Amino acid sequence: MTIIAFRGELLSVGRDPATDPQAVRHERDGLLVVEDGIVVARGACADLAPRFGGLTTTKLPGLIVPGFVDAHVHYPQFDRIASHGAQLLEWLDRHIYPAEKAFADRAHADAVAGLFLDELLRNGTTSALVFATVHAHSVDALFEAALDRRMRIISGKVLMDLGPPGLADTPELARSESEALIARWQDRGRLGYAITPRFALTSSDAQLHVAGALLEAHPQVLMHTHLAENVDECAAVAARFTDSLDYLDAYDRFGLVGARSVFAHGIHLSSRSCTRLAQSGAGIAVCPSSNLFLGSGLFDFGQAAAHGVKLGLGSDVGAGTSLSMLHTAGLAYQAAQARRHALDPFRALYLATAGGAALLHIADRVGALEPGQEADFIVLDPAATPLLARRTRGASLAEQLFALQILGDDRAIAATYLMGELAWSRSADDARPVG
Ligand code: GUN
Ligand code: ZN
Repeated sequence: MTIIAFRGELLSVGRDPATDPQAVRHERDGLLVVEDGIVVARGACADLAPRFGGLTTTKLPGLIVPGFVDAHVHYPQFDRIASHGAQLLEWLDRHIYPAEKAFADRAHADAVAGLFLDELLRNGTTSALVFATVHAHSVDALFEAALDRRMRIISGKVLMDLGPPGLADTPELARSESEALIARWQDRGRLGYAITPRFALTSSDAQLHVAGALLEAHPQVLMHTHLAENVDECAAVAARFTDSLDYLDAYDRFGLVGARSVFAHGIHLSSRSCTRLAQSGAGIAVCPSSNLFLGSGLFDFGQAAAHGVKLGLGSDVGAGTSLSMLHTAGLAYQAAQARRHALDPFRALYLATAGGAALLHIADRVGALEPGQEADFIVLDPAATPLLARRTRGASLAEQLFALQILGDDRAIAATYLMGELAWSRSADDARPVG
């Protein structure tokens, strides 16, 4: 049994501050006590020191917040970030499908999975819901690398029997490979499985039916797909699913809309869809950098809030332009502004941590640094760049947090801890035991 303590400025937002004014928890001089990777106590240092004063204590500079949760990202697209010149459907054909075909080679999948997870850690992301490719071994590669690093990763084989040649499976393979992967990986270490139909256009009705049956047979797994991202995509869905009320309803008819469903984007949603999302408990991974990069549109935070739709934030790399959840939060603010909605910086932090965790059904484990949760946290450096240092000097907590979201990125992550252990550090001096 190992018990250790961390001392520093602690900040977390465990519930949505838009609906709960008590959601922000902040200790300027705080103590976080961790036993075997789990938070066992947290509070003001002055209050906890009498009980835990004798422990080995690591003093951390900067702002300690929960590790980020990336609610939607594609690891096989890591090498295709910044691919120029096309909107969604053409971008998939021209840049993404060729890149994903390379994952037929297991060694390539292993190499990219390791690089990708290390980049997540360098960006302060400790949990993520990740698209793999259609190849079952692309999931093995990611999960093996995540298990090695003790990261909380949820993923699944992509189902796409209507995909391009070389990247299409079948309804039968969708069923048998997903079943085998669930048996091999679900709840192993910190891993979880997601049934992952790519999007409505790349699965036949028969395969969407298989996805629904898999979801019903495995009550602990998630369902992860794309929804209403791009106008041409939406038109193609409407043309194919003529009996459906809208895009979401096309999934609903196959049993794919429920509390364990995570939909990326949701840019072009009817009011009916928002009502149905909220009523079913399904949620949206909002991906602003991707939506700007592909010219997909601007997520409507006002509409989502009016309907009470559950939200998280996703980088959506490689359509997204950065793995940094600080950068993603900053772009979420700017996308919301274009629709006359001012996203509060504490709410943005909630979406990037506990909100994402709730969407991924891991909020009992991570996202708020509360006792009983796993001690995944990061150290943010409000003076990471000369401009950040000037802008945050003497600033309030809200101003500092907002400046980190607008001006910050991977440079502002001083250190990343998984289960109370240093997993990445910008410099050896950032984590210094003080006795
Ligand atoms: N819709 C279907 N596949 C994809 C993908 O790989 N990226 C994005 N952004 N949207 C998709
Ligand atoms: Zn995506």
